[in-house]
Amino acid sequence: MSQQLAASSNALSSLRTARHKPAIWKFSWLCLLGVFLLPSLVGATEIIAHRGASGYEPENTLRAVQRAWEMGADATEIDVYLTKDDKIAVLHDSKLDRTTSGVGPVKDFTLAELQELKIRWKDELLEDETIPSLEQVLAIIPEGKRIFIEIKTGPEIVPALKRILDACTLKDEQLVVITFNESTLTESKKVLPNLKHYYLSSGKKETIDEVIAKTKAANADGINLSTKFPITAELVQQGKEAGYDTYVWTLRDKDAELVPQLIEMGVVGLTTDFPDLCRDWLPTE
Ligand code: G3P
Ligand code: CA
Repeated sequence: MSQQLAASSNALSSLRTARHKPAIWKFSWLCLLGVFLLPSLVGATEIIAHRGASGYEPENTLRAVQRAWEMGADATEIDVYLTKDDKIAVLHDSKLDRTTSGVGPVKDFTLAELQELKIRWKDELLEDETIPSLEQVLAIIPEGKRIFIEIKTGPEIVPALKRILDACTLKDEQLVVITFNESTLTESKKVLPNLKHYYLSSGKKETIDEVIAKTKAANADGINLSTKFPITAELVQQGKEAGYDTYVWTLRDKDAELVPQLIEMGVVGLTTDFPDLCRDWLPTE
């Protein structure tokens, strides 16, 4: 950002001395200014791969996260649970049954036991894929990309989360915590105050006023709403007036029309199973 500003100010002073130069010369400088200044003024939409690029790969696996980067996603979202031995495992459901070869609650197993299991995908058990640990996912977040860690549990997970995040080499700006659970959000923001925290809401049980009030109460930084909320320009504006950016989940392969509408409304980030499609549907920025 500072490089952009320096380049822009150099361009400006050169433009001043160029007052008597031919018009084509001035035009070139104006184009250069546009290139440097526009991205910082307009801001780009953040494309967040939902459970990795889960429209193409098994959700919440290293394969899905890797695919997200190959598709040009800006961030990945994952879901996390605390294991029996106080570690953190990456999967969506509180039970193993749907997405793995195991059965029963995740919290009843150690991480090592969970990593013996195979991933179930499209009615098959995958030989080479297992439940990742949080550390394994953190290790494949490239520089400049973010990870949205969705906590699926109560605040009891927060000490383990802090221990793992403190030990990882990612910058604070790359780490985001999201959750539907208000007490988890409050505790996590208290313990990890330098990280951005966004309150998740499906809109089934609460109004935008309640979402804003809960975000405020947790000292969180933004709101992350379901497409079913439903999102309107007024709602996004209401969030903005309270000091919160609005993120939206989950965009799917049928949402070609909705994507540009959400951006028009002022939504800043889209969580999607299809990061490549979503990027293509963005209005020209
Ligand atoms: O990113 C938020 C979204 O993932 C919440 O819903 O069920 O996919 O975890 P779910
Ligand atoms: Ca999630």
